[in-house]
Amino acid sequence: MALSKIDGEIDNIDQEKYLRQATHYYCALEKPLKFGPAVDSLPDLISALHREFDANYVNIEMVNHLMLAYKSNPKEWRKYAKFDRYTYTRNLVDAGNGKFNLLILCWGEGHSSSVHDHADSHCFMKMLKGELREKRYRYPNRGGDEEQQQQQQQQDHQHINDHELVEIGDKPIPVNDVAYINDNLGLHRVENPSHTDTSVSLHLYCPPFDMCNIFQSNGKKIPAKVTFWSKYGVRNKANEQ
Ligand code: SIN
Repeated sequence: MALSKIDGEIDNIDQEKYLRQATHYYCALEKPLKFGPAVDSLPDLISALHREFDANYVNIEMVNHLMLAYKSNPKEWRKYAKFDRYTYTRNLVDAGNGKFNLLILCWGEGHSSSVHDHADSHCFMKMLKGELREKRYRYPNRGGDEEQQQQQQQQDHQHINDHELVEIGDKPIPVNDVAYINDNLGLHRVENPSHTDTSVSLHLYCPPFDMCNIFQSNGKKIPAKVTFWSKYGVRNKANEQ
């Protein structure tokens, strides 16, 4: 889906809203585009993303293509992959000139994120090593979306408490696959189900955000700050999660 400008001048905020609307039903494609550019290395991927985000209009399908076309090479990403014993870590690889953040997330055995939204950003998640499972939930009381309103009506009909989180998907993400989510598609929680192996994933968020919401099982929303464990391969106190 190539996104192009609609009538008249649209400022950046409107453009972001437009993008979110336009990708309302977007599901990441499983294969790279047939005639899309090749991506031979992580530095190659970063340069291609910078070129893509240079424009004011981001082609989400092309971003998906670039993420898919990169084939994980641990030699290229190892320097960013910093683990903590107790929690998954978020390691900044590239700040995308303020237009996107590219991060490597390191998941120890059994580590997981909380159910969270994405602050109205786009989230691409590519597996680099190991296994992750993604559980999706309906965004509670979000409204505005015809499909969600229908789901809501169905649940009202079935007397399901509309505040409780409702699971709408559960799937593994194999190495080199890319998952995509935005708030219109729901919330998610990601887990490394292995008790013996670590996993590593590459995340692209556009636009970048430093706050999101985490959700309790009763649907209660709690604002949460997101921080970096390391930046550009360097861990320091100021980056503490
Ligand atoms: C996730 O998608 O579960 C990771 C969230 C994060 O960026 O911390």
